[in-house]
Amino acid sequence: MRDRLGREIDYLRVSVTDRCNLRCLYCLPPEGVRPKDHEEILRYEEIVHLVKVAAGLGIRRVRLTGGEPLVRAGLTQLVAELAAIPGLSDLSLTTNGTLLAPLAEELKRAGLKRVNISLDTLRPERFRAITRCGTFSDAWAGIEAALAAGLHPVKINTVAMAGVNDDELADLAELTRRFPLHVRFIEVMPLGADLGRSEARVLPMATARAAVEKVGRLEPAWVTGGGPARAWRFPGAPGTVGFIGALTESFCKRCNRLRLTADGKLKPCLASDVEVDVKRLLRRGASADELKEALRRALELKPARHHLENYAKHARVMCQIGG
Ligand code: GTP
Ligand code: 5AD
Ligand code: SF4
Repeated sequence: MRDRLGREIDYLRVSVTDRCNLRCLYCLPPEGVRPKDHEEILRYEEIVHLVKVAAGLGIRRVRLTGGEPLVRAGLTQLVAELAAIPGLSDLSLTTNGTLLAPLAEELKRAGLKRVNISLDTLRPERFRAITRCGTFSDAWAGIEAALAAGLHPVKINTVAMAGVNDDELADLAELTRRFPLHVRFIEVMPLGADLGRSEARVLPMATARAAVEKVGRLEPAWVTGGGPARAWRFPGAPGTVGFIGALTESFCKRCNRLRLTADGKLKPCLASDVEVDVKRLLRRGASADELKEALRRALELKPARHHLENYAKHARVMCQIGG
């Protein structure tokens, strides 16, 4: 599938819930957001039906996101059903990792290929402060379980925030020398949470890279993936380091994705409030052709680029989009 600008769109991010067991500073406002009612959330069979139609149109990679996807019961079953859809070459999960340890093996057996896990700090007290309620050892146990289960490549998402964790970027990058972990630093995006709304918190990726290069030279590398990160490695290291400059780089030209929210809206762009309702179609038993039409409409509505640099208010916070 190509959009108006000729970008090949083959990646669908599917949010399975808007709920999360953590409350990260950059993802949610302090008061949280009211979770959608149960009936508003797509049922697994509705998700599977839509993904089958999307695969028929050329979607090849599917990533499950949240909120925190592992808070939704029965996720392994959804993974098994998605893994059986012909034509998909990549099935992955983005998680905060804190609930992953007991589930990693069964997810792998069900057909999950790989996981991306959030980790913004290696310091337990700071972890608690950033997540407002999480426990570092749970997240670390999730990372170890992902490695042990062979959910490779295991990627780490580190949102780099000036004055919050910018003194730890080299330490996090050093993980890639000890483990086959792929650590990606991300510029905080202004999507609903107070912290991201302050320009002063944005740590440009050029600065993050300079901090990492203080502890070693980086050479170009390659890791499986469909996202905006470019990979680098310390010579000889088993893992890689990546940078996602959501604000200072313009990777929208390479955009390859659509999003499906937990409440059944197709989002042409992470950073735009434009949405196409597919829940209504799914619930009135629309034909595959009507669903294809909705997917094509979402494609047509894809903007050339985001305008996050305007710090405008958005209808959804990150937790309700899925990153
Ligand atoms: P792979 O490369 O396939 O492993 O996945 P990914 O990096 O696209 O997925 P992940 O969920 O780990 O996202 C990492 C970071 O990139 C998160 O902060 C996302 O919000 C951000 N991100 C993902 N897709 C987009 C996008 O389309 N636009 C922007 N601006 N940021 C994105
Ligand atoms: N800016 C940048 N990245 C964010 N994430 C969540 N909120 C933000 C934000 N405001 C990241 C998390 C998670 C991924 C889905 O998105 O690190 O790993
Ligand atoms: Fe694509 Fe929008 Fe992300 Fe840019 S911000 S890469 S256009 S989804």
